[in-house]
Parts: sequence; C-alpha cells; structure tokens
Amino acid sequence: GGLAVAGGILHRHGETEDGKAPAPKQIAAQLLPGESLAFRYPGDEDRAVAVRMDDGTLVGYSAVCTHLACAVLWRKDRGTEGELYCPCHEGVFDARTGEVTAGPPPRGLPKVVLTELDDGSVWAVGTTRSGESVEAGLCRQLRED
Ligand code: FES
Repeated sequence: GGLAVAGGILHRHGETEDGKAPAPKQIAAQLLPGESLAFRYPGDEDRAVAVRMDDGTLVGYSAVCTHLACAVLWRKDRGTEGELYCPCHEGVFDARTGEVTAGPPPRGLPKVVLTELDDGSVWAVGTTRSGESVEAGLCRQLRED
C-alpha cells in the first residue's frame, strides 16, 4: 500500500519495532519555515516533533530522548539552524540529522519520515529504527514491498 501523491504512489517507509509499517497520518494543514510542531506518531502515545527549517527542509523525529526518555524540544534560537534539546540532562541533537551533538544520549533520534502534499498538508508516513538512515529505511522497505 502507499499514499497517493503528485507523481505517483509514495511507499510507506520504515517500520515500527514490531515490524509493521505505520499508517500515514496528517499532522498539519501546513508548516511554515521556522515553525515546529509536536505530534504523536506512529501511535497515540509516541511523542514526535516536526521542524520546518528556514530553507524549507522538513524534518521529523521521535521526541523521546534516547537517554532516559524525556521529551525532546526544538529550540529555534540555538545554533544556526536550531537544535533539538532534552532538558533532563542537557542532551542535544542536530536538528538536520538527529545525531547527538552533546550530552549523555547514546544514540541519535529515530526519524519520522514526513512528506508534503500539493495542498501544503504535512503527513507522517513512516519511521526508521534508531541509528538507521532514512535512505536505509526506504531501501529496506522497497526491497520488502
Ligand atoms: Fe534526555 Fe537524559 S533523558 S538527556
């Protein structure tokens, strides 16, 4: 299955820990440059965060810190592109990659794969396992489809 988008069908990328691909979910009617959004994905208990960079790039991550599971926030005022910050023990993650840049978190943040439809709506369409790139998740998913 896949989500119909301009130019074809977008395959569901990634999968949850139990091996099931999560269903696409609309998270916003639009997300403007410099904005972020807290949402839940893939499950109703799973905290996630989406960020629209100033250059238009859209990124999404699990907002569950890989250290002790506190809530990770985007701080727009930090660094050149903002940073993802965990206030519990000052863990810091690169906003563009999700990799750890400071503090005790042992791994980067798992990505939530986002896409945007022609009407500007933003959708979460999958996840990657911690430490796996979106590209690796996509390749694996395409192999399995
Ligand atoms: Fe996030 Fe410790 S729980 S840095």
